[in-house]
Amino acid sequence: MKNNIIIAIDGFSSCGKSTVAKALAKKLDFIYIDSGAMYRAVTLYFLRNNIDLNDAEAVDNALRNIHLNFQTKDGQTLITLNDEDVSEEIRQMPVAEKVSTVSAIKAVRVEMVKQQQRMGRSGNIVMDGRDIGTVVFPDADLKLFMTADPEIRAARRYDELIAKGENVKLEEIFDNLAFRDYQDTTRAESPLIQAPDAIVLDNSHINQEQQLEFVLSHLKPLLKDRSI
Ligand code: DC
Repeated sequence: MKNNIIIAIDGFSSCGKSTVAKALAKKLDFIYIDSGAMYRAVTLYFLRNNIDLNDAEAVDNALRNIHLNFQTKDGQTLITLNDEDVSEEIRQMPVAEKVSTVSAIKAVRVEMVKQQQRMGRSGNIVMDGRDIGTVVFPDADLKLFMTADPEIRAARRYDELIAKGENVKLEEIFDNLAFRDYQDTTRAESPLIQAPDAIVLDNSHINQEQQLEFVLSHLKPLLKDRSI
């Protein structure tokens, strides 16, 4: 029997999954794993090395040369791609525009899921993504499905990018989100769907504190049983 706790958070792009996941991990002293960052880092590698996504052998070879790791520095979780910190670059538009296509490739998903499941054996974790409660950890102790109004999501993402000094248009962000929602929910391999036993959290009109409170209220029985 596994004795570590797994919290799976799935949902649409830019609806604050990582904010909730990080706050929870901090509060409970769990490890936070951003599975989207892994798909983004793979996408960055493919872009840099001009990998032909239709060439299965090239994709397999590339996957063998990709080594991803999470590290904590000054309280921030960083992702490294072959020992290079790519945490910033994976958030920029070139990666955002390609990541849904790359993450729809079966070989990519098989490899990422394998690595995520390995990470899940290493301790108490909070992992966010699109298929965490359905494919990666179908037996997760708590599953959350997060959603929010698409226009609110686009405005939040726009504010974030503008604050970082990026030159983006709200319309471009909205279109990219709509495109990713469509691709994520309609792809053949592990589409984004709500697990039947997931708890829905719509954060269109609630703040971060209220979200954390909501999740903690659902965790209470579990944490009491495990005496954490
Ligand atoms: O969470 P995010 O926006 O950083 O994820 C980037 C992309 O990766 C997103 O368009 C869908 C994909 N993804 C996925 O297919 N499966 C996951 N578990 C996490 C992300």
